[in-house]
Amino acid sequence: TADVQGDLEDILLTPEQISTRIAEIAREIESDLEGETPLLVGVLRGAVMVMADLSRELRLPLEMDWMAVSSYGNDHKSSGVVKILKDLDTAMEGRHVLIVEDIVDSGLTLSWLLENFRSRGAQSLRVMTLLRKPDAMTVDVPLDYVGFDIPNKFVVGYGLDYANRYRSLTSVAVLKPEVYGGNPPE
Ligand code: PRP
Ligand code: MN
Ligand code: MG
Repeated sequence: TADVQGDLEDILLTPEQISTRIAEIAREIESDLEGETPLLVGVLRGAVMVMADLSRELRLPLEMDWMAVSSYGNDHKSSGVVKILKDLDTAMEGRHVLIVEDIVDSGLTLSWLLENFRSRGAQSLRVMTLLRKPDAMTVDVPLDYVGFDIPNKFVVGYGLDYANRYRSLTSVAVLKPEVYGGNPPE
């Protein structure tokens, strides 16, 4: 709506740019996982849009499952301590697993998730993220497929939220600082 558009400072990525990049990444994944049936693991809730688009772009048989994770208290961004709210329903043993994320910000969520996954016996473990903020990363996380490097600004849309809103925007946009009070949340 016009109301939501007024909260945005700048469109960073258009739907066309996003879908073009996702198609390029899909071709890479197809060649890396040729002949396999990977298990795509989407990290709720932000990864819903990229998971939906990437999975439909992939010309591979695949399965999808979902993890929901959350911080202990409000310390998530600084401590990297994460709690599983919903675990996988699928066994990872022997599978080629591809974690799908919307954004790697500090890297703490993914770093914790990779550590947690390492003991589960996957045959291979890869990570795809649509967005990465190089200037915000505090831990080094191995990323196999990165859509876009973006500046360290507060972005919403295409799954990314502020206070659980703006996820349904088709673009990735910079939120006006006055919307979140000038101090980036989390
Ligand atoms: C966001 C985003 C990533 C994570 C990245 O999720 O979707 O999962 O933060 O941040 P980090 O690299 O600093 O750990 P959030 O915790 O906001 O939950 P959501 O996906 O439900 O919005
Ligand atoms: Mn998330
Ligand atoms: Mg969020």
